[in-house]
Amino acid sequence: MENVGFIGLGKMGTPMVRNIMKAGYNVMVYNRTKSKSEALASDGARVAKTPKEVVEFSKFTISMLTDSEAVGSVFYGPDGVASAMGPGKIYIDASTISYKVSEEISKVVEGKMGEMLDAPVTGSVPAAERGELTIMVGGKKETFEKSKKLLSSMGKNIIYIGPHGSGLKMKMVNNIILGANMATLAEAILLGEQNGISPDVQFSVLLNGSAYSRVMDLKKENIIKNNFEPMFNLEHEMKDLNYALEMARSSQFPAVLTSEVAQLFEIAVKKGLGKMDFSAIYKALREAYD
Ligand SMILES: NC(=O)c1ccc[n+]([C@@H]2O[C@H](COP(=O)([O-])OP(=O)(O)OC[C@H]3O[C@@H](n4cnc5c(N)ncnc54)[C@H](OP(=O)(O)O)[C@@H]3O)[C@@H](O)[C@H]2O)c1
Repeated sequence: MENVGFIGLGKMGTPMVRNIMKAGYNVMVYNRTKSKSEALASDGARVAKTPKEVVEFSKFTISMLTDSEAVGSVFYGPDGVASAMGPGKIYIDASTISYKVSEEISKVVEGKMGEMLDAPVTGSVPAAERGELTIMVGGKKETFEKSKKLLSSMGKNIIYIGPHGSGLKMKMVNNIILGANMATLAEAILLGEQNGISPDVQFSVLLNGSAYSRVMDLKKENIIKNNFEPMFNLEHEMKDLNYALEMARSSQFPAVLTSEVAQLFEIAVKKGLGKMDFSAIYKALREAYD
């Protein structure tokens, strides 16, 4: 089996690596905080000291990092991904970042005769653990074809969207809806509560009614139990809404609702809730309305 490198062992990266290993690939990992590599090392992953070492070892290098700044520093930084890119090497960035930053990186990769895909994911930690992510891919179609088998070890819906940056543009569409959905759910449940209807009762209607959405399944317990243990950080949804607004500005598209929702998430981050799950937008609104 081919050699695969993986950079970024956070909430998503770690289960994604486990599934790549399960599929039989030889895996080398790198994470800025070294201790996060230990469990994977004891399961047989090689551990690199730098991103460069990962790329030197691998045919495919995947990164799963927080944002554009993180990907930029791992790619361009000393002993970064760029320093070892070359012919026959494929770089797949699965992080949710600015599509413009990703397009620039793809030009550098291709300048070094390598290949690149943007391949952001949706489905959160449980889907990553089950190897059932939906992966939306931008880049050259032939690079996609070469990478499909590897991507299938982490996901069950692997969808080619179009040229470089298209995977990320699709991801923005997804996260605009996700953020608005979560914020609307939080606001509506609070209004119901203020009128004497408990969240439990509200969900027993909503989960079976015309307003149903998957966010209700995923985040019902967080709201009922007031537990916002992070699965997807609230500050990450805020960054995604900001990338979405960047995309809207570039398209001269007035994304009126998205900018309202982004402001709500920004307020929640300012209240110190950024490291909680993004469903803590409910907590932020409740504190504002109490
Ligand atoms: N969680 C979800 O449900 C979900 C779902 C779909 C997509 N995503 C997207 O997937 C990406 C990763 O999310 P996550 O939930 O796995 O985040 P996370 O748990 O916070 O992990 C972030 C990873 O990025 C690394 N990192 C951050 N800044 C860095 C820098 N400057 N240099 C090097 N490494 C850096 C972290 O390293 P350290 O360990 O050293 O901090 C860690 O490995 C994000 O773009 C997110 O939007 C998340």
